Amino acid sequence: MKIAFFSTADYDRQWFESGKSHHTITFIEQPLTAQTAQLAAGHQAVCAFVHDDLGGSVLRLLKELGVGVIAMRCVGLDNVDQETASELELAVLTVPAYSPYPVAEQAAALLLALNRHLPAANQRVLAGDFTLNGLIGQDIHGKTVGIIGTGRIGRAFARIMLGFGCRILAYDLKPNLALVKAGVRFVRLNTLLEESDIVSLHCPLTPHTEFLINNQTLQSMKPTALLINTGRGKLVDTSAVLDALDQGQLAGYAADVYTRESAWFHRDFTDQPITDEVLNRLRFHPRVLLTAHQGFLTQEALQQIAATLLNQLSFYENSQLRHITRSSMC
Ligand code: NAI
Repeated sequence: MKIAFFSTADYDRQWFESGKSHHTITFIEQPLTAQTAQLAAGHQAVCAFVHDDLGGSVLRLLKELGVGVIAMRCVGLDNVDQETASELELAVLTVPAYSPYPVAEQAAALLLALNRHLPAANQRVLAGDFTLNGLIGQDIHGKTVGIIGTGRIGRAFARIMLGFGCRILAYDLKPNLALVKAGVRFVRLNTLLEESDIVSLHCPLTPHTEFLINNQTLQSMKPTALLINTGRGKLVDTSAVLDALDQGQLAGYAADVYTRESAWFHRDFTDQPITDEVLNRLRFHPRVLLTAHQGFLTQEALQQIAATLLNQLSFYENSQLRHITRSSMC
C-alpha cells in the first residue's frame, strides 16, 4: 500500500521505515492541510498526527484523490471529522493500545519539575548561581491527587501517585473497580476539585470536556493546588488559568498541551517571532512549566505506534483484497 505520511519528524522515519515491510511510504514534512492535501495523490492511505487538519473539506479532497484510509498515529481522534469520514466511507485507523506509561510518566515528571522548580534550579546552576532562595517545593507524599479520566493513562498515573504515598480521588463517567480496590476513591467532579492538592487531566477532548477547567471550576480549587494537563489543550481555558495564577487562586500549571498548539508545536520558531500572546504568557510565566506535546515520545511508544499502525494497514489492505476477490466471484 502507498502511504502519504504527513508531519514527518526524524523519529517517525526511523520506526516506520524499519517496520514498513511491503508498504511504500512517502515521508512529507509539511502538516496535512487543504493546501498540502494534493501531496497525497497516488496514495491509498494517509498517515497523520494530532496537528494535521482532518476536517470535512480536507477529507473530501483526500477522497477525490483516491485515498481510502486514514491512519492516525495517536490516541485521540479529536482532530478528525469522523461523521464526514464515515459519510465518505473513509476508514479511520488509530493506535488505541500503545503503552500508557510514557504519558503518565510525563505527567509525573511535569508535576515533580514544577513542584521543585527544576527548570529554574538548573538555569541557576548553569549561570553559576548556587543559591536556593525561591526554590521551595512541597512534599508530594501525603498529598491528595485528583485524577480526571481514569482510562489507560489515568490509571497508570494513579498507580504512580499511589507509589508516592498520595491519597487519590478520581472522577470518570465509568468508575474503575480495580482502582477502587487499590484504594482510589471515585467522587463527584466538584469534590475532587475542592479537595485535591494536585489535579491531573486524563480525559479525552469531547464537547463535554472542552474547557472543563474554566473560571468557575478554578474557583472550586485550592489556591495552593497544582494543575497538570497532558490530555488536550482545550480541556483548559488557558487565559483563565493564567489569570488564576496571577490572582493567587492557583499555585502552578504544568502542561504538555496548549489550546492553539497546532500552529506552533513540533516546529522550530527560534528565528521567527511568536505572535500568540497567550502562548507567550504561558512560556514566560514563573509558575508555568510547558512542554510541546512530547508525552508519547519514548522509544517503546514510538516503536509500538509504528508496529500497530502498519499491522492495521496490512489488515485493512488484506480485507479490501478479500472483498474484491469475493465480489469478482459472485
Ligand atoms: P482512554 O480512552 O483509555 O481513557 C479516557 C477516560 O476518560 C475513560 O475512562 C473515559 O470514561 C473518561 N472520560 C470520558 N469522558 C469523560 C468526562 N466527560 N469526564 C470524565 N472522564 C471522562 O484514553 P487514554 O489512552 O487514557 O488517553 C486519555 C487522553 O490522553 C487522550 O484522549 C488524549 O487526549 C491524551 N493523550 C495525550 C498524549 C500526549 O502525548 N500528551 C498521548 C496520548 C493521549
